[in-house]
Amino acid sequence: MKRTLGIVFSFLLLFTACSSTTVQNSSSTEVASIPTPPGGVTALRDLAQKRGIAIGAAVDYNALQNEPQYAYVLGSEFNILTPENMMKFDATEPEPNVFNFVPADAIVKFAQQHHMLVRGHTLVWYNALPTWITSGTFSRDQLMAILKQHIMTEVSHYRSTVNIWDVVNEAIADNGSLRQSIWERVIGPDYLDMAFRWAHEANPQAHLFYNDYAGEGLGTKSDAIYNLVKGMLQRGVPIYGVGLQMHVSTRYYPSTQEVIANMQRLAALGLKVQITEMDVKTQDDPNPPAQRLQDEAQIYHAAMIACLAVKACEAFVMWGFTDKHSWIPIFTGHADAPLIFDTNYQPKPAFFALQQALK
Ligand code: G3I
Repeated sequence: MKRTLGIVFSFLLLFTACSSTTVQNSSSTEVASIPTPPGGVTALRDLAQKRGIAIGAAVDYNALQNEPQYAYVLGSEFNILTPENMMKFDATEPEPNVFNFVPADAIVKFAQQHHMLVRGHTLVWYNALPTWITSGTFSRDQLMAILKQHIMTEVSHYRSTVNIWDVVNEAIADNGSLRQSIWERVIGPDYLDMAFRWAHEANPQAHLFYNDYAGEGLGTKSDAIYNLVKGMLQRGVPIYGVGLQMHVSTRYYPSTQEVIANMQRLAALGLKVQITEMDVKTQDDPNPPAQRLQDEAQIYHAAMIACLAVKACEAFVMWGFTDKHSWIPIFTGHADAPLIFDTNYQPKPAFFALQQALK
């Protein structure tokens, strides 16, 4: 009891800087101060729930472990999360048949404690592979057996806790052809169907997604994704939906009408869609910083409007939530501000734009 109270007290101390709501308990004269969500009285997750969608973010494991404020904002504003890196092949099976689910388990536990859904990300990708895979020489049968065991072990491990999986990630190249990868080269194009069938075998209840970037609007790549998943459905492959990553920038982003049209044609196949990795790169924008933030907010707003306009769009997930922890500055080597909270965990115009769209 003492320990629990101690934790509660530290929690309250930690967030006295945040705006707070005063609650009068009718049975006593005590006045308790409880932290309100960082963006205001109503959390995004509550607004989203009223609109019938989930809203969430990718999770940086180290930040979650080490920064209470990170955990606080994540747990209070969102109701779905995606482990950013900890469910990938290199993290979960670093050596042949040696599985490590410790970091991902911690993220899933956090999700459960905060009543959040989990998007499992990702079972089959050309990237984030351990060196024993990339430098190994395997026959087709050997690599199929490795992939099957990897998928079955991971999906089974999370059978009761993770119901959404990005089964195959980024299998289409930017020109619409099948992307070259170890899976495509050694197993052949069939690896996609196989991956979905194995994931389904491990958890028949799970919602299985194909996930990709730059296929949100209309064009060569989204046509290729459409044809890929249409073919899967015709072959009886247990695919449930398509993840539209939505890594965009203030200079290049698809129009709302195109995103809606693309979502609608996928929905017409009987598939669900989710926005799975949204962020808005601003570093190439020639406008002054304040204008960039307004442009960014407008792009977030438009993407949310697109999701809300299509019944089959069931989630809006960003690739992080604070500019303090985004892959973009690390990847590009340049400062950026692609997310909806700033580096001090203050809500940005993009946060309020999402709030507005959800209202
Ligand atoms: O944590 C290690 C650190 O210990 C080491 O010193 C350092 C040296 O390179 O690497 C660190 O790990 C890096 C990790 O990000 C954490 O920053 C990995 O090298 C790096 O490869 C990894 O990048 C991730 C990338 O996927 C590849 O897995 C990004 O964080 C992650 O945001 C990105 O996410 C992808 C999605 O999965 C798929 N869609 C695109 C999206 C963005 O690229």
